Amino acid sequence: MKCVRSVGCVSELGVGTFGAGGDFWTERPEEDYLWISALRRALELGIKVVDTSELYGRGRAEMLVGIAGAGFDDLLIVTKVQPPRFTADEVAGRLYASRERLKRFPTVVMNHWIPADSDICDVVQSLEAAVAKGLASYYGLSNVSGRRLEAALTCARRIEPAVVENHYSLIYRRDEIDVLPLVQKLGLLYLAYSPLERGLLSLDPYLASVGARYGKSAAQVALNWLISVPNVVPIVRALRHVEENAAAAGWRLSPQDWEEINKRFIQYRHG
Ligand SMILES: NC(=O)c1ccc[n+]([C@@H]2O[C@H](COP(=O)([O-])OP(=O)(O)OC[C@H]3O[C@@H](n4cnc5c(N)ncnc54)[C@H](OP(=O)(O)O)[C@@H]3O)[C@@H](O)[C@H]2O)c1
Repeated sequence: MKCVRSVGCVSELGVGTFGAGGDFWTERPEEDYLWISALRRALELGIKVVDTSELYGRGRAEMLVGIAGAGFDDLLIVTKVQPPRFTADEVAGRLYASRERLKRFPTVVMNHWIPADSDICDVVQSLEAAVAKGLASYYGLSNVSGRRLEAALTCARRIEPAVVENHYSLIYRRDEIDVLPLVQKLGLLYLAYSPLERGLLSLDPYLASVGARYGKSAAQVALNWLISVPNVVPIVRALRHVEENAAAAGWRLSPQDWEEINKRFIQYRHG
């Protein structure tokens, strides 16, 4: 389990759903059965954090999460909304639509991106209003820089953001500079998306050599390294690798191996 101040204790690993039911532009039902089976298996294996979006498969991913998650009451379901303008009414409308698909309100609502022309306070206050109305238990921010996260904290009226969801992997370590230190200081949950760089890290020979000593794969080592970072829960998407990824949790790299990997990939910590 991973325990943080803002949301309490959650599973060490989460599942992503980009590609489930289609992509951003198209809805594709052909693989529904495969996605429902993969998601359900992940939940059975103890992965209780699920990341989705109203945009994935034009809402179909949320519907698949709703089906796969039936009977699981202990999930932390994150959904992301992206209205043309972040207002309390727009966000609320989108959450009622998400509830139809998910068969429950999400645990966490967040923005997908922060539109370049919008005020971060509009984003924060519209998400905060949704939580105040009981349409989600928490809100978070996705694709947020350290500067914007600091600004966001000054916008919140009564309820502070609880979760940050950003790109973080061994070869994308930008957030170690300013976002993660702030997240850790505040006790927020940090969801690391694309933790395997869409499968690329599973091919890394160095990670494979470390993993061989633990009976683990390169992908399991890459995920476990992130799990050892305070406040971080990697969200990994898998149709074919569900069992393997579930076994990336529940054990720890030795501090020496963690540090060796850290040094080996340190050049990717840059702005
Ligand atoms: N907030 C945002 O803007 C944002 C942006 C990007 C992603 N996300 C979220 O983060 C989730 C994860 O990120 P992602 O989908 O970009 O990339 P990812 O999880 O790093 O990689 C997924 C890809 O890696 C493969 N894979 C998974 N486990 C593997 C393993 N053990 N060995 C080898 N290959 C493996 C998967 O193949 P199989 O399917 O064949 O198993 C899939 O093709 C998304 O699904 C989405 O929910 C959020």
